[in-house]
Amino acid sequence: MAKSYHIALIPGDGTGPEVVREGGKVLNAASLKFGFKLDFTEFDFGAERYLRTGETLPDSAIDDFRKFSSIFLGAIGHPDVKPGILETGILLKTRFALDQYINLRPVKLYPNVETPLKDKDPEHIDFIVIRENTGGIYTGHGGATRVGTADEIATQVMVYDRRTVDRCLEYAFELKKKRNAKDPKYAEKPITLIHKRNVLTHCGDLWYRAFEDMGARQYPELRRDYNHVDAANMWFVKNPEWFDVAVTENLFGDIITDLGAMIQGGLGVASGGNINPEGVSMFEPMGGSAPKYTGKNVINPMAAIGAAMMMLDTLGETRAAQAIETAMVSVMQKMKSQAAGQMGMGTTEVGDLVAKLVS
Ligand code: IPM
Ligand code: MN
Repeated sequence: MAKSYHIALIPGDGTGPEVVREGGKVLNAASLKFGFKLDFTEFDFGAERYLRTGETLPDSAIDDFRKFSSIFLGAIGHPDVKPGILETGILLKTRFALDQYINLRPVKLYPNVETPLKDKDPEHIDFIVIRENTGGIYTGHGGATRVGTADEIATQVMVYDRRTVDRCLEYAFELKKKRNAKDPKYAEKPITLIHKRNVLTHCGDLWYRAFEDMGARQYPELRRDYNHVDAANMWFVKNPEWFDVAVTENLFGDIITDLGAMIQGGLGVASGGNINPEGVSMFEPMGGSAPKYTGKNVINPMAAIGAAMMMLDTLGETRAAQAIETAMVSVMQKMKSQAAGQMGMGTTEVGDLVAKLVS
């Protein structure tokens, strides 16, 4: 019997709905071609609903999400909503409540996509950052006292426990093993832990020991490397070809993956997954809601299409995911640029072309 997937769609704000529509087109084309069933249920969470009702994401929505195979998110954010409300209320709440403990961010430069790095080509930029997605400073431990006075104190604590670190590391090691088996060019490179253990002598040490322990015991065949996060920033720019699978804690991962997005060609092409390997995952393009481009058919849907590809790959539809990637590469060759408004074609045209090639 054909497999069947139920997808929760959160188009969200700004250009979110436009790019989700193109991602949906490509998903539908893939389902027809590769013989699985897809259905979509749309949710209206985002700025508009918040401004109308004061509600970000009710607890009942989390229970709803649990019934789906996956979540596909466009973008959230609106100039009229104070920063932090929607991010915490929708994105972080979903990550935490569904225990999406892996943030998967491929940093892959495709042919014909422009990188700001001089002399770097697709062969140099092809790695994956595994960002721990539920712990660290994002847990909200800490507080503020004497607020508003000259003696105000604020703390926000980096919190990690061994189990949270281990499950993230295990995902990274397993991914590295898979990539090494897939292509010898990956096998030449190490798995890299990124932290700041010269200063974060508690959290950094926990991560480092856990990495070394697990590596030595369970994955002795994989070469391990370690970078301080500040140095990793330099190497992402100077020698991105050194990296294959890089694993790091939450905030460092947040920061370095934006750098990663830029070297792979910008927000128009950067996709990410919030993954619970045993549960419901959520996929999204990394670009924000881009209010100034809304409704103009100029936003690049490639990152959303890439997110759709990652979703199918995670669901186990690897052949369909592969076909989408091949189609993306081919359409990127025809585009003038991956920047919004400079693609030489419209948002819908990009989606149509990719969907047609997948069919
Ligand atoms: C990301 C975003 C989020 C984060 C924000 C919007 C809360 O920057 O997914 O990288 O910090 O994780
Ligand atoms: Mn970020």
